[in-house]
Amino acid sequence: MDTAMGKTIVVTGASSGIGRELVLQLAEPGVDFWLLGRDQGRLEKVAAEAVERGAAAKTQSLDLRDREQSAAFLNETFAEGVEVDEVYLSAAFTMFGEVKDLRDEDWQRIYETNLLGAVQWALHFFRVMVARGGGRIVVLSSLAAYTGYPTAAAYATMKAGLLGLFRSLWYEGRRHGVFCQIVSPGYVDTNIYKAAVFRNTTYEKTVGNIRKLGFPMLTAEETAVRIIRNVRKGKRQYVLPQYAALMAWIAPRAPFLIDRVHREVVKRFRER
Ligand SMILES: NC(=O)c1ccc[n+]([C@@H]2O[C@H](COP(=O)([O-])OP(=O)(O)OC[C@H]3O[C@@H](n4cnc5c(N)ncnc54)[C@H](OP(=O)(O)O)[C@@H]3O)[C@@H](O)[C@H]2O)c1
Repeated sequence: MDTAMGKTIVVTGASSGIGRELVLQLAEPGVDFWLLGRDQGRLEKVAAEAVERGAAAKTQSLDLRDREQSAAFLNETFAEGVEVDEVYLSAAFTMFGEVKDLRDEDWQRIYETNLLGAVQWALHFFRVMVARGGGRIVVLSSLAAYTGYPTAAAYATMKAGLLGLFRSLWYEGRRHGVFCQIVSPGYVDTNIYKAAVFRNTTYEKTVGNIRKLGFPMLTAEETAVRIIRNVRKGKRQYVLPQYAALMAWIAPRAPFLIDRVHREVVKRFRER
């Protein structure tokens, strides 16, 4: 699965952040992209940047919450027998607020986008790749899947669901030559914070508090570079950067060490 000529690569969430950077880092002559997201204008800009780097790129605007639209697109464009080499499932949004303040529709929206949407796309390509006998599906989870995240519990829940799926698919896919890999970043400086849903807090306060915690924020570019390097090395689960890998390792072994961070998160969230 090294970079080879004549590759088809699908990226969801390609219009922004890590998804966009994955496209730019993967773009080279011989790569044929399908770029997905809702914002057609931003998708086309990313497609043009990929073309500048010698790749070919097609775009499709769709909302992952619309299962019928996704199914129609997937069945039409990626029917069994169609060649697709790599899929990066990056589309998602996040939500900040204590669980007591989240509304039912908040849970529904994040469930449909971050979990069901990603699962629908992963399963479609899994079947296509198993039938073909090879491929790679990479999903973006989060450090929050390993540690939980008070004030972002709905997000952590959906990302943990993806861990369950991909840890299972890894084994089921291997004998068919299909690599199902999950990558889990800590904080990355992207639009995800501006685009978040906020309950009883604000964007400014949330980002201010994250900065005060003192964890380094990766750029989308360095995140994408590391993701590509590590998934192509064959890592089934990749947590980045180092502090996040350490926290993911510690969380089930010495949770009291993580509690100190979480207590700080909640304390700052509740400060008025
Ligand atoms: N940034 C972080 O700190 C961080 C940390 C850990 C994990 N991650 C994960 O990394 C991935 C990429 O996030 P990012 O930081 O790059 O965020 P981002 O810049 O906000 O990008 C999110 C992408 O998802 C797409 N998207 C959102 N809702 C969608 C929907 N309903 N239908 C279709 N597309 C949708 C957006 O496209 P449109 O707006 O065009 O629809 C956008 O392209 C996500 O899975 C995120 O959970 C991020």
